Amino acid sequence: MIYEFTKKNIEKAAEIIKTGGLVAFPTETVYGLGADGFNPLAVAKIFEVKNRPDFNPLILHVSDSETIEKITTCRSQKVFDLIEKFMPGPVTLVLPKREIVPDIVTSGKPSVGVRMPSNEVASEFIKTCGTPIAAPSANMFGMLSPTKAEHVEKQLGDKIEMILDGGECNVGVESTIIEFADGKFFVLRYGGLPAEEIETFLGEKLTLKRNELSPNSPGQLKSHYAPHVPIYFIDEVDIEKTKSDRAGLLVFKENRFGDKFRSVKVLSPSGDLREASANLFKFLHEFENENVEFILAEKVPEHGLGLAIIDRLSKAVNRYKIKS
Ligand code: TXA
Ligand code: MG
Repeated sequence: MIYEFTKKNIEKAAEIIKTGGLVAFPTETVYGLGADGFNPLAVAKIFEVKNRPDFNPLILHVSDSETIEKITTCRSQKVFDLIEKFMPGPVTLVLPKREIVPDIVTSGKPSVGVRMPSNEVASEFIKTCGTPIAAPSANMFGMLSPTKAEHVEKQLGDKIEMILDGGECNVGVESTIIEFADGKFFVLRYGGLPAEEIETFLGEKLTLKRNELSPNSPGQLKSHYAPHVPIYFIDEVDIEKTKSDRAGLLVFKENRFGDKFRSVKVLSPSGDLREASANLFKFLHEFENENVEFILAEKVPEHGLGLAIIDRLSKAVNRYKIKS
């Protein structure tokens, strides 16, 4: 349902966010579908509602630069100058993340996108929530980004509790995405803030990371996180022969495969795909830290968020298939 911009409605929106729900909100670029960026289960709901067949890193929306310092380890003066100059505004910076940012927000990547919208409704909403808001554009997978509350209502109206109305988005295209890595700036996506303005300010040409990020072909991100250890699907190997104390076992609800493993992780003991999604990247990282030599993964049910989980695991499995 669409709610007008009043103090009472902002408070109601913040309450929904605090209790793990989703709120669609206006920004100067496009409408976003927001969740508490520090709550992995709430973030998993975003993928569920958008009906995404895969995971994609999400931008954290903040209302002040202190919060940016809380979520990134970046201490570059150049980056802070950029923030000072262009934020709030239609630009996103991809910076090295701090531990506090859940893996599901970044799809397991070590960097996080941060953006400070200039839209007044967005800013009041984020401030009142008191937490960074993880949000992609508020459209169904494969559909156009919404620039009016009515567009959101049409696509997601029956799936979310609240759409905050901020009228029409005055920029109307998504934010420009700039990544800072190894002391250099790269453009990941052209958008609402002209790249030339950033180049003039920095006094340097920006390199476009080609194919790195193609908004029209989600899931094509080359830098999507893939574990550094081989993954195999249990139903594609002879499990009795493959079992090993050098292996990590990743199962959906319960372990039916015995305990001859270095480490066993259960994605969701209650069989909840949302919980499974919220745990996926975290567990893959944990396996790496436990130095398992390979991972045996059970397939999860093939519906809803299960499709995104299988997609992500399949990509990792295929990497190792091609080589062998
Ligand atoms: O204007 C915008 O940026 C809108 C409003 C709602 O803020 N948001 C938006 O989000 O366009 P989304 O999820 O539709 O697009 C964000 C893009 C995705 O293609 C994602 O892959 C990329 O940003 N992205 C986010 N975090 C990233 C990261 N750590 N590294 C590389 N790319 C990242
Ligand atoms: Mg989008």
